[in-house]
Amino acid sequence: MNTHALPPRIPLTRRQIETVVKHFYARVRVDKTLGPLFIGILSNDPEIWRVHEAKIANFWANAILHERSYDGNPMLVHSGISAIEPSMFTNWLALFDQTLSDELPSDLALQWSTLAHRIGRGLRFGVESARETSGPPILR
Ligand code: HEM
Repeated sequence: MNTHALPPRIPLTRRQIETVVKHFYARVRVDKTLGPLFIGILSNDPEIWRVHEAKIANFWANAILHERSYDGNPMLVHSGISAIEPSMFTNWLALFDQTLSDELPSDLALQWSTLAHRIGRGLRFGVESARETSGPPILR
């Protein structure tokens, strides 16, 4: 235990993070909009999903518990998936909020939701910018 570690941003355990991630993607897989997109990219292979969920749990443990367990680039990854439409972030966040309120006490759910919405806004903006046709601005 590193006594100099930063305190968690939200008082959650790793176990709670893993549980939320697992239940969230179980919902994602059967979601009308998000399910086909995720399965199209990750397939239905349980081993691929296990690796994906472990990566996402590391992402959240990094953001919330300051664990140095994730060093990817979500902005680049999402901007690169042309099937993602900006409006899908609304679905993603609604499903995430439902999972949080089912799995956690309401104060923790609210804190994690606030963080997810903040990150989600940033990613959505990144995806929107990447979708804009590049070229010189039209000044008339
Ligand atoms: C429109 C909403 C979203 C869709 C459709 C979506 C879809 C995906 C898919 C398909 C992948 C897997 C990419 C691959 O392995 O090839 C992925 C990775 C990931 N997503 Fe999302 N996502 C969405 C929103 C979000 C949000 C809001 C967050 C965070 C709050 C997030 C965090 C991540 C992270 C950390 C990864 C791993 C990136 C890496 O490979 O390092 N996603 N997402």
